[in-house]
Amino acid sequence: MDLEAISAAARLLEAGRLVGMPTETVYGLAADASNPDAVAAIFAAKGRPSNHPVIVHVARGADLSRWAAEVPPEAKKLIDAFWPGPLTLILKRAASVPAAVTGGQDSVGLRCPAHPVAQALLHEFRQGQGGLAAPSANRFGRVSPTTAQHVIDEFGAPGDGPLAAVLEGGSCDVGIESTIVDLTRLDTLGPVLLRPGQVSAAQLEQALGLPLALPDRAAPRVSGSLDAHYAPTTPVALAASADVERIAGALQAKGKRVVTLRCTGDAHAYAHALYANLRALDRDGANLILVEQPPQDPAWQGVNDRLRRAAYDSAGVVERLLG
Ligand code: TXA
Ligand code: MG
Repeated sequence: MDLEAISAAARLLEAGRLVGMPTETVYGLAADASNPDAVAAIFAAKGRPSNHPVIVHVARGADLSRWAAEVPPEAKKLIDAFWPGPLTLILKRAASVPAAVTGGQDSVGLRCPAHPVAQALLHEFRQGQGGLAAPSANRFGRVSPTTAQHVIDEFGAPGDGPLAAVLEGGSCDVGIESTIVDLTRLDTLGPVLLRPGQVSAAQLEQALGLPLALPDRAAPRVSGSLDAHYAPTTPVALAASADVERIAGALQAKGKRVVTLRCTGDAHAYAHALYANLRALDRDGANLILVEQPPQDPAWQGVNDRLRRAAYDSAGVVERLLG
C-alpha cells in the first residue's frame, strides 16, 4: 500500500477535491460527505441527476450517529455479520447530513468497505471520523469501474479532468456493486432488498432471522435500480446456452459482428471479471454483445440483475439486426 499517496488523497478530500477510491466491489468517486460543494462536484462529474442519493463510506468502528438518526437492532446484526464488506444499509438520516448526499430523502446509505486502501483512506481522512460520499466512478448509466485504469478511462487522468487523484487498489475482488438493504420501514414492510449483490438474500435473512421484502413502489430512489443501468455502448442481448451459437451464426450470416460472453466459472469469479469483460467487449465495436444467460439460481442473483439491466435498452436488438 502506498501510504504517502493515501495521506495525500485524504488531504485533497479534506480540501473538497474528488478522489478515485478502490473498494472491494467497484471503484468509487469519493468526496467529503459533509461538504455539499464537494458532493455537488461528484454529480457534475458523473452527469448524474442531483436527486439521486449517494452512499456514505465510513471507517471500521466509526460512530454512525453523525449520519443515522437511529441504528435499529436489525442494522446492528447486519453490521456485525457483514461489515467491513459489500453491504450498504439504508437508515433514517441524521439531521446534519447534507441534502446533496441524501438526494433530498429522509434516509442515508451507509457502507463500511473492506478494501484495505479504502479503510486506510477512511482512517486518514478527518482522523477516521469523516464520511466519504462515493458513487461508482463511472459516468451515469455506464458500466462501473473495477480497476484504476477504468476510472481514468471514464474521467481522464488526475489533473486533466475532475479527479485530483486516483488511488491504486488492484482489480476489485467482488466486481459488482454492494448489496443494498433498506431498514427505514421495518415497522411496515420489514427489511427490503433494494439491490442484490455478493452478500446474498439468504445470508441476510439468516443474519436477521427475518424474511426480506422485495422493493415496492414507495421504495427510496436507487439509481442502480433504474431498469437501464450498467450498460456498455454496444447493444447487449441475453441468450440461453443452447441458443448462443445459432443466434451468433445467424447474425454473422447477415454480415453482423457479434462478440460473445460465455458463462464460465462460479458466480463470484464471473462477477469479479464481468465489468472488465463488458468493457473489453465494448471496445471491439461489434454490432452486438451476446451474453450466455447464467443459471437462474440464487448464487447468481447479483450477476443476473446487472446483466438484465445491461440488456434493458437493447430489447429486440437481435430481431432488428436479423432484419
Ligand atoms: O459497491 C458500491 O455500493 C459502490 C462502491 C463505490 O461503494 N457504490 C455504488 O454507488 O454502487 P452508486 O451511487 O453507483 O450506487 C449506490 C446506490 C444508488 O443506486 C443510490 O441511489 C443508492 O445506492 N442509495 C444511496 N443512498 C440511498 C438512500 N438514502 N436511499 C436509497 N438508495 C440510496
Ligand atoms: Mg453506480
